[in-house]
Amino acid sequence: AADAGAIGALISNNEPGPLNGTLGTPADARIPTGGLSQADGQALAAKDGATVQLELRTFQEARTSYNVIAETKTGRKDNVVMLGSHLDSVPAGPGINDNGTGSAALLETALQLGAKPKVNNAVRFGFWSAEEFGLVGSTHYVDSLSFEQQLDLALYLNFDMIGSPNAGYFAYDGDDSDHVGAGPGPYGSAQIEKTFVDYLTGRGVAVEGTDFTGRSDYGEFIAVGIPAGGLDTGAEVLKTEAQAAKWGGTAGIAFDPCYHQACDNLGNVDRVALDRNADGLAWALGVYATSTESVNG
Ligand code: PHE
Ligand code: ZN
Ligand code: ZN
Ligand code: ZN
Repeated sequence: AADAGAIGALISNNEPGPLNGTLGTPADARIPTGGLSQADGQALAAKDGATVQLELRTFQEARTSYNVIAETKTGRKDNVVMLGSHLDSVPAGPGINDNGTGSAALLETALQLGAKPKVNNAVRFGFWSAEEFGLVGSTHYVDSLSFEQQLDLALYLNFDMIGSPNAGYFAYDGDDSDHVGAGPGPYGSAQIEKTFVDYLTGRGVAVEGTDFTGRSDYGEFIAVGIPAGGLDTGAEVLKTEAQAAKWGGTAGIAFDPCYHQACDNLGNVDRVALDRNADGLAWALGVYATSTESVNG
């Protein structure tokens, strides 16, 4: 007989991606790629004639969530500089590095900017919801804009995980300088990468390019052709010896060993890294609020 407990456990797996695994019995019953539907579960239970009472629980429930969008009153509305960070965390933990750090830096910068005189280009802040469920908030936002409104966005800057406890220093690879993985971002993204690299290098911090893998909220912006960039300090990937030599920290462990875990708490932040990247955020905002000439021509 199929093991109802095993099915229940697999159904209640809340990890992203397809549910894969084997049931206790029968041994050949594999969870189909693409996930286990209620009908699949019943078919598995019935497979060798067993009668099994299954408690089928699904995780999906309808929820409404909200992006928070704010914009300067001054500046050109047809050449908007947009910056964003996601407010949500995974259910497993409080999400302080992912992404309290990016959101705190962005909020503080918005508050400081609010007290300043006029900007040339309007600056718009996007605090995204439901990033962890598949970039839901930012994708909805970009897709809710008309083509004309998308054209009014000069560029988008993303800040997701900028205080990892074993920090690396990464800028999204706008020119594909590493020649691996995903290609460059939309035209203009190379200039954005250079803005971040020049700033941090000037502070004595070496920066590596990191591919636009589609794992954060820039995804829909680059999909519609908006130049993009941003900073992050690394997630589950292990720091190499060479990286530890130039940045400090510990080789052989993850940039953020608490990535998507309960221990992503207030202790899980490298405050030096957060400070440097928050300053990089503010710097890039200042550059592009003044002019986006270097990016858009
Ligand atoms: N922080 C992203 C998330 O929300 C994942 C990510 C990893 C983003 C590495 C950038 C770099 O889970
Ligand atoms: Zn995350
Ligand atoms: Zn994140
Ligand atoms: Zn690349």
